[in-house]
Formats: sequence, C-alpha cells, structure tokens
Amino acid sequence: MATLGIIGSGSIGTAVARLAIAAGMEVVLSNSRGPQTLAATVAGLGEAARAATPQEAAEAGGQVVLAVPLTALRSLPVEALRGKVVLETVNYYATRDGHVDELDAGLTTTSEFVQAHLPGARTVKVFNNIAASHITALARPAGAGDRSALPIAGDDAAARARAAGLIDRLGFDTVDVGPLSQSWRFEPETAAYAPAYAADPAAVLRGWRQLVDDLRAGRAPRLPAPDAGRPLPAARLGQLLAGAERTLTADRVVA
Ligand SMILES: NC(=O)c1ccc[n+]([C@@H]2O[C@H](COP(=O)([O-])OP(=O)(O)OC[C@H]3O[C@@H](n4cnc5c(N)ncnc54)[C@H](OP(=O)(O)O)[C@@H]3O)[C@@H](O)[C@H]2O)c1
Repeated sequence: MATLGIIGSGSIGTAVARLAIAAGMEVVLSNSRGPQTLAATVAGLGEAARAATPQEAAEAGGQVVLAVPLTALRSLPVEALRGKVVLETVNYYATRDGHVDELDAGLTTTSEFVQAHLPGARTVKVFNNIAASHITALARPAGAGDRSALPIAGDDAAARARAAGLIDRLGFDTVDVGPLSQSWRFEPETAAYAPAYAADPAAVLRGWRQLVDDLRAGRAPRLPAPDAGRPLPAARLGQLLAGAERTLTADRVVA
C-alpha cells in the first residue's frame, strides 16, 4: 500500500491525510511535539494512520506533505527529505512568522524560500491557496463534473508530474504554473487564493478583516462563519493564474 508522510498535522496536514486514506493510502503523521500528542488525531483517522517523528514521516514514503509554519524550516529533517517529492503548503505571514525582508520585498517567492531550506528535496507547492475545510469539502473523483483544480509549481518537472498524479488520486485536477519563481501567482490574496473556492467570497474577506480588527484591538478573535465551498474548475483557475497580479505582504489584508 502506498504511504504518504506528513510533517505538520494541523488543519492542512490532517485534511490531506483524510483524503489520502479515502484514496486507499497509509499516512504517517508528525508534528513538533512528538507522536504521543497525535493520539487523538490518529484515532480519528483510523487504522491507516500512525503517528511518528518528522524524521520517520520523511522516510515513510516517496512523497511527503510539508504543512508547517514558515518558522519550522529551521528544524526539518533535511537529509531524510533529500530526493523526496515534498508537497509544501507553506504561506508566509509576517505577523505570525516574523518579517523576512526578501519575502516582504517580493525578491523571492515563499516556495523558493522553502526550497532553499531543503537542499536536494524536490519541492512542489500545492494546497497553500485553499482553506483546509475546502480541501475535504471539494475533493471529487476524477472525471466528476464539479471537480476543482489546484495550482502547482516546482523546479523539477518530473516531481511536478508525480505530485499531480498524487493530487489527482486525492481528488483534484491541477494547473501547472511551472517553476517555483512563478508560484507568486497563487500566494495569499491573489485572485486564485482561498476566496476563489468559497461559496461566499465576500463573506470570507469580511471574516478576514474582522479577524485582523479583533487582533489589532486586542480582542478575542471572532471565528469566521463556515463556508460550504464552491468548485473551481481547471479552466477558470487557469484564467485566474494567467491574469494574476503580485500581492506583496504590505498590501495584504492579513499580513
Ligand atoms: N489552515 C489553512 O486553511 C491554510 C490554508 C492554506 C495554507 N496554509 C498554510 O499551511 C501551513 C500549515 O497550516 P495549518 O493551518 O495546517 O497550521 P496548523 O494547524 O497550525 O498546524 C501546523 C502543524 O505544523 C506542526 N509543526 C510546527 N512546527 C513544526 C516543526 N518544526 N516540525 C514538525 N512539525 C511542526 C505543528 O505541530 P505542533 O502543534 O506540535 O507544533 C502542527 O501540527 C502554514 O504555512 C499555513 O500558512 C494553511
């Protein structure tokens, strides 16, 4: 049985794990605090899931999902990820991750920044432009009329092809934007970003603004209302990516 390693088992890592298990795969989940802290998550996912260290998750399969905050790049099992296809979902939020000058200035993409921390890994950016809840809500079998697509980027064409095959198995078409330098086309708050998969994009944006206002005012953040999701077909996603305008951190609602 094919195995998917997962480093970072929060919202995104767990959503991808769910799809992988539904597709008949085994998953090896890991986090920063140790396998024992993933007992409830693994129990919820069932027998095809087990918890391990990031090193073991990296070694578990040929493809590894990296669903961590940017700050985790300092402590990843770099040697174990060498040669692996690493599906990385990382977004940069200066308020969460601390300022990184070259990212703020748009001198490099977040995915190039991740790749630079993982020498020898064959990184493919994916799952960073869709809300975790929409990953499970919008996954569909191949050929379904209401199937959504996800953008991918990577410097290794063979790795992009392998990642596309896995993503197809998990429930999404892909639109390939080419090298990592092009991945700004689906970074936060571009046209292809999360609201593009929402049933009510305006409400999602209102929720973000409310969250930022609450945090700035020192209030407990109000949770945005759940959104059921709306399929984003490959043809439409392709148009959004082709017409993308680069959004720098300073110009974002949530930075
Ligand atoms: N949530 C979304 O809807 C969404 C959408 C698109 C992209 N993203 C991006 O995807 C990434 C993951 O987001 P998320 O929402 O899933 O985050 P999350 O729910 O906060 O989960 C983060 C996971 O990463 C683990 N982690 C942190 N540092 C680590 C380290 N050094 N080694 C191994 N694991 C580590 C955490 O483990 P511990 O809890 O043990 O520290 C946790 O399991 C972020 O970069 C985020 O910006 C998120």
